[in-house]
Amino acid sequence: MNLLILGSGGREHALAWKLSQSLLEPKIYVAPGNTGTAEVAENIDINPDDFRSIKKICISKKIEMLVVGPEDPLVKGIYDFFKEDNDLKHIMVIGPSKAAAQLEGSKSFAKAFMQRHNIPTAGYREFDVSSFSDGIVYIKQHALPIVLKADGLAAGKGVLICNNHIEALGEFELMIHQSKFGEAGEKVVVEEFLSGTEVSVFVLTDGKNYVLLPEAKDYKRIGEKDTGLNTGGMGAISPVPSVGGQFMQKIIDRVITPTIKGIQDEDLLYQGFIFIGIIKVNDEPLVIEYNCRMGDPETEAVLLRVKNDLVQLFIDTASGTLHEHQIDIDERAAATIVAVSGGYPGHFEKDKFVDLGYMESPDFMKYNERDGGVVIFHGGTKFDGSDIISSGGRVLAVSALADNLTEAIELSKEVLSHIYFEDMYYRRDIGYEFIK
Ligand code: AMP
Ligand code: GLY
Repeated sequence: MNLLILGSGGREHALAWKLSQSLLEPKIYVAPGNTGTAEVAENIDINPDDFRSIKKICISKKIEMLVVGPEDPLVKGIYDFFKEDNDLKHIMVIGPSKAAAQLEGSKSFAKAFMQRHNIPTAGYREFDVSSFSDGIVYIKQHALPIVLKADGLAAGKGVLICNNHIEALGEFELMIHQSKFGEAGEKVVVEEFLSGTEVSVFVLTDGKNYVLLPEAKDYKRIGEKDTGLNTGGMGAISPVPSVGGQFMQKIIDRVITPTIKGIQDEDLLYQGFIFIGIIKVNDEPLVIEYNCRMGDPETEAVLLRVKNDLVQLFIDTASGTLHEHQIDIDERAAATIVAVSGGYPGHFEKDKFVDLGYMESPDFMKYNERDGGVVIFHGGTKFDGSDIISSGGRVLAVSALADNLTEAIELSKEVLSHIYFEDMYYRRDIGYEFIK
């Protein structure tokens, strides 16, 4: 089977790594990929949003399955582009249709979907330029903190948690009248602030059936103890100790089951991952967001615990037969810690030599003689002809699987202590709430 993965981060390296272990022995291409994906697949230098070039590659490489890593091409309708094209429609696409991807692409769509299907979420109202003055009145009387969300995709920056009314009114004005987030902010969801512990759950659905993947928690802030600016994600753990069997059952009953039923009832074509962000409030799960793809860096932890053949799971996803398979999860714990360029998420320098010499050492090899072990996923790297150099903010994600979380985290940190690039930074406290 010839398979093309779209994307270039740690998530896509983890997908390529896992898919490359399939007994179905796929030939894997990644567009555009990175130096890590080049170890397990062939990179093709095209942009995931360039549908015409993707079409050409799919024809010339006889691609049979397309796996879409990031949300952008999904929200722009890559699924529909394939299914409406006579040369492409036979290709299995792992990712939802444009209409279904609105669950991530429009906060307003997602909130209305949750209301229609009685899925618990924070109370909200939405406003645009025509209801601006109502929005001002609403915000002025709203309890603090207030959460403002740009309706559309804003590269992870569209959610603002405001601690006073002046700030909230200012941001609201910037979004609606000054196009702070461009078109994405033309509509604003004003939402109640939820206080509680967060967990991310992941399902793979064929539109009717689904399998539940291991849950994860990601650490979004740049600084230790969750301080400083938000990032794309500095690390993740799985399982999440605060999610026991009982709470997971509540998530299944109140959130996952009605979500899948809602997708079916509304005839939304969905064959792919749903990543549901949840906050646990008074032991109840409330949804804060849907994403129509896997998380990064959550994927780099979660996939270490999935024992199934991922190519087979994807074939079942595309053919509507996911009910024929059980998900097989490793009971052990996985952790991933992200090494970022100094200065990220603000200004940072690229093109730093990334010294991964440790990977050749007997010490490193010994980790991988164990079942599980350590995997170094690349996020922002490229090959300059002779060396691996950094090419983005999140450079590497070092993932480890071990008997418990403490050991997985320690193993990941141990390996990170032997990796070097100038100004490399990583959080030493990933999983801190759960470690004795
Ligand atoms: P998002 O950009 O949708 O991933 O949201 C970013 C982060 O904002 C989430 O991971 C939460 O930590 C936080 N967040 C979003 N909505 C709320 C809410 N209603 N209450 C508290 N925190 C929230
Ligand atoms: N780590 C959060 C995300 O992928 O959206």
